[in-house]
Amino acid sequence: MTRKIAIFDTTLRDGEQSPGAGMTTDDKLVIARQLLRMNVDVIEAGFPVSSPGDFRSVAEIGRMAGDSCVVCGLTRAVDHDIDVAAEALATAKRPRIHTGLGVSPEHLHEKLGITEDECVERVIRCVRYARNLVDDVEFYAEDAGRSDQDFLVRVIQAAVDAGATVVNIPDTTGYSLPEDFAARIRDLRERVEGIEDVTISVHTHNDLGMATALALAAVKAGAEQVECTINGLGERAGNTSLEEVVMAMRMHGDELDAHTDVVTRELTRASRLVSSITGISVQPNKAIVGANAFAHSSGIHQDGVLKARDTYEIIDPDDVGAAGSEIILSARSGHAALRHRLVELGYTFEDEEFEEVYQRFLEIADQKSEVYDQDLESIVQERAREVSAVYTLDALQIQCGDPLVPTAVATITDEDGDTQVVSMIGTGPVDAAYKAIDKVVSVHGDLQEFAIKAVTRGIDAIGEVTVRIVDDDGKVFTGRGADTDIIVSSAKAYLNAVNRMITTKRSREGE
Ligand code: KIV
Ligand code: ZN
Repeated sequence: MTRKIAIFDTTLRDGEQSPGAGMTTDDKLVIARQLLRMNVDVIEAGFPVSSPGDFRSVAEIGRMAGDSCVVCGLTRAVDHDIDVAAEALATAKRPRIHTGLGVSPEHLHEKLGITEDECVERVIRCVRYARNLVDDVEFYAEDAGRSDQDFLVRVIQAAVDAGATVVNIPDTTGYSLPEDFAARIRDLRERVEGIEDVTISVHTHNDLGMATALALAAVKAGAEQVECTINGLGERAGNTSLEEVVMAMRMHGDELDAHTDVVTRELTRASRLVSSITGISVQPNKAIVGANAFAHSSGIHQDGVLKARDTYEIIDPDDVGAAGSEIILSARSGHAALRHRLVELGYTFEDEEFEEVYQRFLEIADQKSEVYDQDLESIVQERAREVSAVYTLDALQIQCGDPLVPTAVATITDEDGDTQVVSMIGTGPVDAAYKAIDKVVSVHGDLQEFAIKAVTRGIDAIGEVTVRIVDDDGKVFTGRGADTDIIVSSAKAYLNAVNRMITTKRSREGE
């Protein structure tokens, strides 16, 4: 039997640090539910001291996870951060505090302004402090990838002696080469006393496009936990992609002496969900979950795959949940058929909620003859977006064409139930609709990016619009909207981004 490698998912913490990937607590709960379905070992649910929203997310995910997995909160090596994390994790059956500080010369001297001795004192203090509050404490040596190895050994020894249960060796800046990084792990295993009683974790970034290679090299060298995110989301070029490390271990388990317990058939859905919630698209040629990951375009390749799949495919699309849906629903499909398919896709609803989903399904089914799984996912996620909306678009009427003046009449209701009907003209129908929305809402965001794509094939497909808007502080908010009418999708996407901007501001202000 190969070694079990723990999968530590940090989509909700490091992933959320991607510009424009900000998530509400409701968003995080939806993703956490999917992570539980995938059977990850640890969910890093947030950085509790950073905002009331993050605190709430950690608390609620802790409550939701029960015994199923460890729930972790990030802290700096600061007593107050650790106290707040422990408080947020009080709901969790298996809480973990993830604490630490920078250990490279750049971090010690330029960022923290401390000596090596002072750093070691802080390591001991933060780990001991956290161990007084919870039994499971993970210490991170930030920027270990650029640290002096002898000093790293000293730091990790101090963390182990102070009671850390997991030691995390991050390549924070994605600087290392795989073999050098693996050598660091081997060296720590040889030189740190008692390291065999703690788990060595690795947390690698993708600045040189090697995050997955670094993580796998470290696993081969003895690491037993990998920190990663769905779609490789994360700071700058992102983190190690969960789907890549999990599938690499599945394909090369014997060579790596490694396996994970992740349910790989859930990988594609997880990828779509995270992309839909964050509004960050997955590049088509992305390994495992990209739209082209199992597409064969050259005639020679198509011929080969038709003769034997393994001529050009090392992974069975079924194994990652990427095979096309066999079931296509239509306006004739009843409640039972829809409920059955939603359950198969992993969505369950109380009766009242289900009726709302069913009514929306009927509207879509009336507009397009065949309703695919992607359409259903779009409906469900749109509903999730609406649940926490401050403003809701009730109706939108557009007049446009040549030589008409593009005009939008929007009916918008706020959370107190007040409805306004506004009319605006613009340079085009989307501009007119956005101006109408701006007239009603209390905040303004500058539109930075606008993208539209069809959810499925066919001229009657649902059009999904993603927008990014920037507030006065330069913070980016992403919004998504889906409808068979692309002007309506555009308006919904903009309103969704505005709603996110408002809820994030409220959450920062502690409302
Ligand atoms: O990249 C990093 O070093 C981190 C730590 C906070 C674990 O994200
Ligand atoms: Zn990181």
